[in-house]
Amino acid sequence: MRQSRIVVVGSANMDVVGAGPRLPRPGETVLGNDFVMVPGGKGANQAVGAVRAGAACTFLGALGSDSFGVTLRARITAAQVDTTHLRVVYGASGVALVMVNAAGENAILVTPGANAAFTALTEAELDVVRGADVLVAQLEIPVETVTEAAVAARAAGTRVILNAAPARQVPAELLAAVDLLVVNETEAQLLTGRGRDEPAALLTLVPRAVLTLGGEGAWYVDRDGRAVHVPPVPVEVVDSTAAGDAFTAALAVAWGEGREMVDAVRWAAAAGAACVRRLGASVALPRRAEIDALYTP
Ligand code: RIB
Repeated sequence: MRQSRIVVVGSANMDVVGAGPRLPRPGETVLGNDFVMVPGGKGANQAVGAVRAGAACTFLGALGSDSFGVTLRARITAAQVDTTHLRVVYGASGVALVMVNAAGENAILVTPGANAAFTALTEAELDVVRGADVLVAQLEIPVETVTEAAVAARAAGTRVILNAAPARQVPAELLAAVDLLVVNETEAQLLTGRGRDEPAALLTLVPRAVLTLGGEGAWYVDRDGRAVHVPPVPVEVVDSTAAGDAFTAALAVAWGEGREMVDAVRWAAAAGAACVRRLGASVALPRRAEIDALYTP
């Protein structure tokens, strides 16, 4: 098996996480029972997740010049992600205020900070994209940057996975460069106007797609006519934050290794399940052995 070479273009946030019995309503204060502050952001999570799942991974993104930026760089680098090209821009780093209830559900407010200033990829950054097996991107940075990376990847033969999260519109130029779209129900609804019962609607946008359904598994669909439901992996849910990141990272790694696509989705589902067993984003991302332990071929 050849090790996957992944490049992630995306966000990095400091996640300030509080867990309590339930999520507060507007204007309400609820007493919580747990607190952690951990690196997060969909981009950084997927980069760390890819390394833990067995890939070599470079992360392209932007940190602020504040102390959160220093900590984020140290933690992402310590996770063996290549941060050579990680930018620093003057001002605040991205921050995510994460609240988690007793069922492991969350509500997240992200202030993008430096992520919003991650624009216009340099020639060196584009070379990293062109040299990878798989580009993985999300929508927590300017969509123009994601489009630029995806178009360069497509032209170079680097496969493109877009995790279209958080939910927002995706320009046609970006969709045209995507090989595999990963979305949850909310994101699918926004992009296609169709919900969980019509995953094939995603094929009007891209050649292959995965619709994740949390505790109900995932659908894989492609333009070769395949529509396969992958069942959920039962685990006790502590915190669902970053489950989609663990899923997308593992899917990219498996695809880059040449695994068959439905098998790759099954392995990714095991990664998502492994992630929800711990509180916090990056600290919960599973290693390859943990994924293998929950994977059923
Ligand atoms: O996908 C989970 C991530 O979303 C969190 O780490 C948080 O930073 C938000 O970006």
